[in-house]
Amino acid sequence: MNSVKSIVVLTGAGISAESGIKTFRADDGLWENHRVEDVATPEAFERDPWLVQKFYNERRRPLLSSSSLDQKSLEQEIRPNPAHKALAKLEAEFDGDFLLVTQNIDNLHEQGGSQNILHMHGEVLKMRCKSTENVFDCFNDIQVADLCDCCGEANNLRPHIVWFGEMPLYMDEIALAISNCDLFVSIGTSGNVYPAAGFVQMANQAGAQTIEINLEESLVASNFDQAVYGKAGEVLPIWVDDFLLSQPKK
Ligand code: OAD
Repeated sequence: MNSVKSIVVLTGAGISAESGIKTFRADDGLWENHRVEDVATPEAFERDPWLVQKFYNERRRPLLSSSSLDQKSLEQEIRPNPAHKALAKLEAEFDGDFLLVTQNIDNLHEQGGSQNILHMHGEVLKMRCKSTENVFDCFNDIQVADLCDCCGEANNLRPHIVWFGEMPLYMDEIALAISNCDLFVSIGTSGNVYPAAGFVQMANQAGAQTIEINLEESLVASNFDQAVYGKAGEVLPIWVDDFLLSQPKK
């Protein structure tokens, strides 16, 4: 590959699949046994905050460090897989600008060693005050009755998650990075959800090379210059090593 100066990587649920987190569009049409509209919309939170908090509490627990886990959560502990680690290696060894944009709300990229990350759909290890929009770290369950640190109100803390119908985060920063990149790599995302599914077209307009790495063709596969199909944990470490070999040393 030609010498590259700036990389933007987009990841989706497929990169965390081999760590044991279910993807969204599995065959049963449910997400972790729930309909999306029951747990991942602002309306669901208004209707049944207890159910929504419980749902995200269950997503959060297995990501916490072993010391803070009870026995049941320890058994379900979720850890980064070779794909997350390969991206951390790419960022550490690539001699240029690197931005990782993830649609995932887990912290497996951070655990895997990645540094420059934007979580465009939010983070399950953060919570937000509904009144002030202040964002806090969240390493415990959130209970509906919990009093908010900043406003002192109950039922004011929500998971810092972009729900259906809400605006993704960091869109200006992401658009700027894509417009300046010369390599765009999309990993483990089905291309169903915009604006992320449109990033490849933005990258094409910027003249970047575009590569899709996924288990199967995504809905936007025809927009990419190249594709590698297989499990991210198997194919991504090889792709990263080959790419780094093709580039000038740091
Ligand atoms: P999806 O569940 O739609 O797609 C996951 C993709 O990963 C599919 O194309 C799978 O084929 C692929 N895949 C599965 N296992 C893989 C593996 N081991 N290696 C590589 N690829 C694999 O998930 P996303 O595209 O991330 O948004 O979904 C995008 C957004 O839709 C989510 O962020 C979420 C959801 O609604 C919000 O919650 C706002």
